[in-house]
Amino acid sequence: MNSLPIGIFDSGVGGLTVMRELRRLLPAEHLIYLGDTARVPYGNKSHATVSRYAQEDVQFLVGRGVKIIVIACNTASAIAAPGLREHFPGVPILGMIGPGSRAAMAATRNGRIGVIATAATIGSGAYETRIRETFAAVGRAPEEIISQACPLFVPLVEEGETDTAITRLVAEKYLAGLRGAGIDALVLGCTHYPLLKSVIASVMGPSVTLVDSAEAAAAETAALLAGRGLLRPASAGRGGERFYVTDAAARFHGIAENFLGHPVDYLELAELGSPVEADGAGQVSG
Ligand code: DGL
Repeated sequence: MNSLPIGIFDSGVGGLTVMRELRRLLPAEHLIYLGDTARVPYGNKSHATVSRYAQEDVQFLVGRGVKIIVIACNTASAIAAPGLREHFPGVPILGMIGPGSRAAMAATRNGRIGVIATAATIGSGAYETRIRETFAAVGRAPEEIISQACPLFVPLVEEGETDTAITRLVAEKYLAGLRGAGIDALVLGCTHYPLLKSVIASVMGPSVTLVDSAEAAAAETAALLAGRGLLRPASAGRGGERFYVTDAAARFHGIAENFLGHPVDYLELAELGSPVEADGAGQVSG
């Protein structure tokens, strides 16, 4: 069981921010990444469609015998995580919303929290609900949660416009309301947004802590595996990596090597939608 891979999926390349963190924290783990590049983006699609895509993503990873699944996509986490856990009760499925919300509570001093994400994630209200639940669990309540959809951020990142004048203009427009609201923590509630950290930080200013949901999810995955005695031992050597995409493999290959900073040797086209029986080892929330 310990030597089975960790399965990670996203609508495309954004989940590589989670993968990079997992690799940094857990060098001995085998990692399997699925990017649904044929159907990206998920963030402007209906709940029914995102749920169906996410089910097929999980089914594919379950078929590869993973020991845990990390939904490295905030949109899929916000919309589909509860349904996925119901549908695949045998495999632990960790989403981004729980870790991001807990990290937000840890980061804020004044209880005023901003959340930026795709239109679907913001529309779902998942972060707002989970942040309130996280505070309530310790007998507190946030002062205010201000949410803002930033639909142009994903295409800007996809086009490599991570630190350019056009991205700064877009960021100034999206973040204007948050800037005047006295928040001291801002959740980057989309896996693409850590790539825009420097622009977002410079627009928001030094008094606002950026909460990286990718870092938070990777740290909770590591803690969960350690807690269940499921870590692959360091003595087993460096873990392998396999990547699957549903389209445009060459483009993904270039972006992934550039972003991860090491060769991507195993990359295959995946066919989603073939029925596979669920199998695994128990549930967690996230
Ligand atoms: N990965 C998605 C997320 O974290 C952003 C890209 C998309 O819209 O599919 O919400």
